[in-house]
Amino acid sequence: MKMKQFNLLSLFLILITFFGSANSTIVSHDERAITIDGQRRILLSGSIHYPRSTSDMWPDLISKAKDGGLDTIETYVFWNAHEPSRRQYDFSGNLDLVRFIKTIQSAGLYSVLRIGPYVCAEWNYGGFPVWLHNMPNMKFRTINPGFMNEMQNFTTKIVNMMKEESLFASQGGPIILAQIENEYGNVISSYGAEGKAYIDWCANMANSLDIGVPWIMCQQPHAPQPMIETCNGFYCDQYKPSNPSSPKMWTENWTGWFKNWGGKHPYRTAEDLAFSVARFFQTGGTFQNYYMYHGGTNFGRVAGGPYITTSYDYDAPLDEYGNLNQPKWGHLKQLHTLLKSMEKPLTYGNISTIDLGNSVTATVYSTNEKSSCFIGNVNATADALVNFKGKDYNVPAWSVSVIPDCDKEAYNTARVNTQTSIITEDSCDEPEKLKWTWRPEFTTQKTILKGSGDLIAKGLVDQKDVTNDASDYLWYMTRVHLDKKDPIWSRNMSLRVHSNAHVLHAYVNGKYVGNQIVRDNKFDYRFEKKVNLVHGTNHLALLSVSVGLQNYGPFFESGPTGINGPVKLVGYKGDETVEKDLSKHQWDYKIGLNGFNNKLFSLKSANHHQLKWSTEKLPADRMLSWYKANFKAPLGKDPVIVDLNGLGKGEVWINGQSIGRYWPSFNSSEDGCTEECDYRGEYGSDKCAFMCGKPTQRWYHVPRSFLNDKGHNTITLFEEMGGDPSMVKFKTVVTGRVCAKAHEHNKVELSCNNRPISAVKFASFGNPSGLCGSFAAGTCEGAKDAAKIVAKECVGKLNCTMNVSSHKFGSTNLDCGDSPKRLFVELEC
Ligand code: GAL
Repeated sequence: MKMKQFNLLSLFLILITFFGSANSTIVSHDERAITIDGQRRILLSGSIHYPRSTSDMWPDLISKAKDGGLDTIETYVFWNAHEPSRRQYDFSGNLDLVRFIKTIQSAGLYSVLRIGPYVCAEWNYGGFPVWLHNMPNMKFRTINPGFMNEMQNFTTKIVNMMKEESLFASQGGPIILAQIENEYGNVISSYGAEGKAYIDWCANMANSLDIGVPWIMCQQPHAPQPMIETCNGFYCDQYKPSNPSSPKMWTENWTGWFKNWGGKHPYRTAEDLAFSVARFFQTGGTFQNYYMYHGGTNFGRVAGGPYITTSYDYDAPLDEYGNLNQPKWGHLKQLHTLLKSMEKPLTYGNISTIDLGNSVTATVYSTNEKSSCFIGNVNATADALVNFKGKDYNVPAWSVSVIPDCDKEAYNTARVNTQTSIITEDSCDEPEKLKWTWRPEFTTQKTILKGSGDLIAKGLVDQKDVTNDASDYLWYMTRVHLDKKDPIWSRNMSLRVHSNAHVLHAYVNGKYVGNQIVRDNKFDYRFEKKVNLVHGTNHLALLSVSVGLQNYGPFFESGPTGINGPVKLVGYKGDETVEKDLSKHQWDYKIGLNGFNNKLFSLKSANHHQLKWSTEKLPADRMLSWYKANFKAPLGKDPVIVDLNGLGKGEVWINGQSIGRYWPSFNSSEDGCTEECDYRGEYGSDKCAFMCGKPTQRWYHVPRSFLNDKGHNTITLFEEMGGDPSMVKFKTVVTGRVCAKAHEHNKVELSCNNRPISAVKFASFGNPSGLCGSFAAGTCEGAKDAAKIVAKECVGKLNCTMNVSSHKFGSTNLDCGDSPKRLFVELEC
């Protein structure tokens, strides 16, 4: 009897173990790598932030990431988007986190869930809700009971949501790692002893949630155990985890950089990015994530800052619209395939390094079965010709050669064979001319004349404390009685405002006095303008505008926003200056603007307000104005953009959904752009830029899912500064041209991204030169007509692949010199 019982019990246990293990994956780590079911792994990951695209885009983005050779997708979780008001949650539409993780799962990829909930990420307020800041006795990211309670509440909520759907690898799901906090190591010293206590608490709290997979802490040297600390930056080859049992992991390899209003368009070369990745794996790294792999769009008011643009393209391998950003995507894909093929030696092999002199190092990873090698040249200018294991290798400056079998170079980070795609706006169909209607923000001058608001306070208040960030706009209004005897009177009187408003508009007695915007990161400035005052009551109305709340730095949550004063009237009388400080006066505050409060952008309210929209005397350059027009969606499937050239600054809605803030009137400075950026030498965020002296952002992404294919679509604009909507146009973005500069003994793949290749503009095999768009043949050329060969292989097709060889293009009559032969091609799409 006893025996029988035992048998039944053991059968039961076997069944449990069987089903348990069939469903679950054991993720762990040792000093070398993350291990999955006991196997050390090379993990290639990319960040895609679900709210920066729309849910219908996710499957395509994820499948392009997989096709690009990634096995993992990283995302942050955005607290203020999910909990806009305390204990009121939103996981709908493009905030459907569970659906996003399941999309990753169905593509067969792993996922890294960076809960934060502080995320930075150029996201409004770093991901924190502003209501949290407005709770009594609140202090973020330190030992503060209120904060810790809310952080734990949100983190637990997210973990439970994942658990309920069995999304952790321990439950058979795709999530192999989770992150708590973010980059606290950068600021911990500002928090004194409480900083250390806080990060210990974070680790304990996270651990207690029992997710069954390891937790990571990004940029957190000496992370409390068992948290795994990780690196971020443009390079992490020199990084060594301070805990010797932590593997060398890179959570953020910055693929480019973000944009600020008034800034240029930064980019990072494919050569340098590939170099940083190859160096990382050469020096013992095993987990690497691209931040961003797809940057996307800051829809609505999610952009952080201050001053982060609506586009968050980031020059990532997938562009804002989800197109392949070539050559970056393809050049990395080739590297990924090779790294994966070297997984065993890289994670289990013995490592030996050989100094080949002049900053050139070879690294050999060897197991009994297989050896894999790298030769890295970190010299920023000198190319190297080295002999390694009896063979000569030409390793250009700032590059790594990957030699999977230690015998033949399969890839060099500086030799790009992938095509460059030039994305253009499609001008096939002349875009329709829009018929606009308009209405002013306020029909009477009442607000700014008589200043009645939502609340009254003595003195000046901080903008976010009053608005809870429900709006970018806050009116500060006061009145001041000046009798004839007031000492201030003079011919020369002015209004002086010390301000932290990102934009300030000032009115006195209903008349516009002027504005000031933050430039060159000077967020604390003095506005002063001459004003006309009257005997009796004078009305002052100051409109403070925020353009994304700060997302980084110690105590960033308490940085000033709005008009913190003093606000003064100043009378100049010869040498004498008389000041009247209004800062302690009674001020009236009005949150938001009428049009926003009445939802003029919403389709539902359209009828209600129809009468007030006018087709007459459409103004250009009129401040605080609303514009509306109907339009037809561009046909097809190509991504849609709206060209807002001619407008000033404001917000734009498509069928009631905000696609973000716009500010095309803000040009970047003229200097600092180069036609071609030298990939060699250390990259920094302002090393390579284009679009100097041009609007920081002229084109805005209109997701297809916001549009009705058939019937009418509506665009609504709120124009704050004054602009001319007559040039606004909807277009699609397509691959217009492609260029390639492939090296001999490689294959070149050419494609116009779902459109047929229409013509060959240039082709030469030999030693051609120049930049895409102005290629020129060199002194030597293959005997066969390259243009004819390429035309035959490619024109009329969606893609074509050719060997770059003398066999294909003919031997060169003249000696091409020392440099190996190349094929330069330019195709028209
Ligand atoms: C990192 C941060 C990211 C992002 C990045 C810059 O330090 O962790 O969230 O802000 O900088 O794009």
